Parts: sequence; C-alpha cells; structure tokens
Amino acid sequence: MQWSEYNSDLPRDKDFSLAEWLSGPMMTEIAFIRKILSNMAVFVREKYAGRRELTVRSKVNPNDLVTEADLAVQRHVVDRIRAAFPNDSIVAEEEGLAEYPPDANVRSWLLDPIDGTQNFVRGQFPAFGISLAFVVGNEVAAGGVALPMTGDLFLAERGAGAFRNGVLTRVSDVSSLALARVEVDFGGPMRRANTLATTSELIRRAGAVRCQCAAAVSLCAIAAGDMDAYVHVRLNPWDYAAGQLIVEEAGGAASCPDGSPLRPFDAKKGVLVSNGRLHDELLAAIRG
Ligand code: 2AM
Ligand code: CA
Repeated sequence: MQWSEYNSDLPRDKDFSLAEWLSGPMMTEIAFIRKILSNMAVFVREKYAGRRELTVRSKVNPNDLVTEADLAVQRHVVDRIRAAFPNDSIVAEEEGLAEYPPDANVRSWLLDPIDGTQNFVRGQFPAFGISLAFVVGNEVAAGGVALPMTGDLFLAERGAGAFRNGVLTRVSDVSSLALARVEVDFGGPMRRANTLATTSELIRRAGAVRCQCAAAVSLCAIAAGDMDAYVHVRLNPWDYAAGQLIVEEAGGAASCPDGSPLRPFDAKKGVLVSNGRLHDELLAAIRG
C-alpha cells in the first residue's frame, strides 16, 4: 500500500480550510502554533483510539517506528506552514525533511508530528506529544507541545513566559539531586552503551529515575514542576527545541551534557534540561 493513500485521512473540517488560513489577518507565529497544535491534538487522540488499525513501519532501526498518523500530521502541518509563512524553511522528522537548513540564521520551523511513537503504537503508556518550534538565528523564539491524552497544551515565547493551558507554569524548586526526580532517556538501542557510560553516577545518586521515551513530554513535565531533570546523549532538534524554550521560560535551564549551550542546529551533543537549581549538580554527576 502506498503511503500517499493515507492523504484521505487528513482532517477536513471547517477549521482546516486553506482559504481561511490564507485570508484572515497575518497570524503571529505563536498564534499559529497554538491553533495548529490544538487541532492536531484532537486528530492524534482519535488515531490513538483506533491505533490497532494503523499501519506501522520501521525506519532504519527496526525499533524506530512511524505510522500513517505521524505522516498525516506532518503533511498537514507542513502544508499550513507553507501557506502561512511561505519563505520559512521547515525541518521535520519524517519524509526527507530532516536536513538542517544550510544557513542556521534563516527563519525555520522544527516539527515532530508525534514524539513518542513507540508509546503511541503500543498503548498502556500514553505518553506522546506533537512538538512545533519556530527558530530564528539558531535560537528558539516560540514553541508549543500538545499532549493529546491529557489535553494539555504548553506554549512559550522567548521572554514572555511559559503557559500550560493558558496559565503560567513554573519549574519545581527541588535543589538537591538526592531528592530529584530525574529522567535518563535511553532512546533506541544504538544509544544505550553511551547512555550508561554518561549517566551511571547520576543514576546512582538521583532520588528517583524514570524513562518514558518521549522527550517533548518529559520536558513539559519539567516545565510543570512534575519532574526535575532530563538527560539524553544524542537527541534530534525536533524532539527538544519547543520543550527547551518551554522549560527555560518556566524558569529552568538547558545545555548540552558537557555544559555548552544547547541550540537547534549545532552538532548533536545531547541535552541536559533541568529546573535550573539542579543544573550544576547534574553537570558534575554526568560524564559530558
Ligand atoms: P520519536 O518517537 O519521535 O521517534 C528520545 O527518547 C526520542 O527518541 C523520543 O522522543 C522518541 O522520539 C525516540 N525514541 C525513544 N525510544 C526509542 C526507541 N526504542 N527506538 C527509536 N526511537 C526511540
Ligand atoms: Ca516522531
């Protein structure tokens, strides 16, 4: 079966009419993010309910999955970005759009249509999200993550705070690693040896250790004050860009595991995100 056959699956209600998107007043980037993520969350929630009927395919790594829902969301969001912001570049996880822009200074969009596809496909642990970031000059300027199963929408603009369903959200005030709830994200099998080498000391010392295998969801949990830190040894920018800004605007901190600045289009050196207070203790516990 051809993947293009799934195009008929795209949501087509009034809210999605291209004419509407092209007519109204010029939309700000954050208004665009809010609208498209709200719509896509409804779509993904419906797809999750019918997940046993979805076609699932492995990518390069047999455990790295993509479904027709990932593709439908990506195609839809990409169409809308192209309509609303025709000069911007787009980087997205699926279908050959994963190349970074040749000039990191251009305006660009970073999309993960479903972050946590493993969780989406298998059920039992419904931690997945849709992540969209707007990037200018290799810095995230606005971002949002929708969590379809909790109904949460996290949004942030640089310098304007982070919001969970319209209400300002703040990181936790936990200040000791011995009390911290930390996520060590083991990712796919290719990352495990490196992850163990980098985080063994951290795993020994943290108050609690989790792994939910959906970076955007985990970063929102830090911004909400529910978790205190997250580490991954090699993450793609569409997994963390929106969540990074949401955490920073909620009072937290983000860097590479070696302490250097974390930007979307630099070489992948991994990510360390925290409530800020814990950051130095985390850096000292990690082999960056
Ligand atoms: P994805 O669902 O968008 O592919 C960090 O864990 C990221 O790696 C996740 O956000 C998830 O993004 C992907 N991932 C997690 N576990 C994985 C696994 N076992 N194999 C491949 N990718 C995985
Ligand atoms: Ca994905």
